[in-house]
Amino acid sequence: MKLFSSVNDVADINALAAEALKLKADPYAFQHLGKNKTLALVFLNPSLRTRMSTQKAALNLGMNVMVLNIDKEGWALELQDNVVMNGTTVEHIREAAGVMGQYADIIGLRSFPGLKNREEDYSEMIFNKFVKFCGKPVVSLESATRHPLQSLADLVTIEELKSRPRPKVVLTWAPHVKPLPQAVPNSFAEWMCKANVDFTIAHPAGYELSEEFTQGATITHNQQEALADADFVYVKNWSAYEPYGKMPAVTEDWLLKNDSLKDTNNAKVMHCLPVRRNLELSDEILDGPHSAVVHEAGNRVWAAQAVLKQMLEAM
Ligand code: CP
Repeated sequence: MKLFSSVNDVADINALAAEALKLKADPYAFQHLGKNKTLALVFLNPSLRTRMSTQKAALNLGMNVMVLNIDKEGWALELQDNVVMNGTTVEHIREAAGVMGQYADIIGLRSFPGLKNREEDYSEMIFNKFVKFCGKPVVSLESATRHPLQSLADLVTIEELKSRPRPKVVLTWAPHVKPLPQAVPNSFAEWMCKANVDFTIAHPAGYELSEEFTQGATITHNQQEALADADFVYVKNWSAYEPYGKMPAVTEDWLLKNDSLKDTNNAKVMHCLPVRRNLELSDEILDGPHSAVVHEAGNRVWAAQAVLKQMLEAM
């Protein structure tokens, strides 16, 4: 594997999830693979889980790791081509990515969308330029439209905790106070559409995701109906795809509580984190037996390790 940016970069998602669970059982079995190899993790946006879990995964494989919060610690980056750089930007992404490619064997990049210009965000302009100019294998640490390391960890969690061969998985929209990217739900949807699950998406009218990511899913505006017989409930806020980055008014109560789960198959509740308590998810769920959110975050290590292992093996 030379690029991990979406489910389309993975030959067999079930094999990759199984590999992650094998690494969970024996984390240090492949330390020789990463000897004298360097992973650079480059962040244009904040992170707790992605940063620490990917770092841990690389260390488990014997790699050296460098982390750069380029938005705070690097030179101000110019992302557009053919501009006179007489403003606030100091270094062009062409040189910055090229130089980082000289120092690292694998690079991870996080670049969130601006949520202003849909065409620019959905073209993955920043991520794709970085891939092009660094010249090294690249792992997405969450791009404008996808968060594949999260989605792989989510699949691993479902495989690990499922109580029947083809579980019902429901992605449900949750409230928020500000517009959030569609990257996590887009990515979760495209992975679930390829996984061996019965997959439903529930959201209020106006919050339709791009059809590019939801082919094969059942889509409804009725949360309670969607939750019936669910084994896993994945909670996430996202802003509208059309009108892009906006928050159409929602009058119904979409905040999940214990009572919302009464018709589920004793569902496990998942969330990528960070989560705003009692806005996106209630205390009673997060602190109760249904919550799988911390377990899910723990699986981020094994997902990242499975991806890095495949990249090291391909060198
Ligand atoms: N879920 C997730 O990616 O968490 P961070 O933003 O903290 O990395």
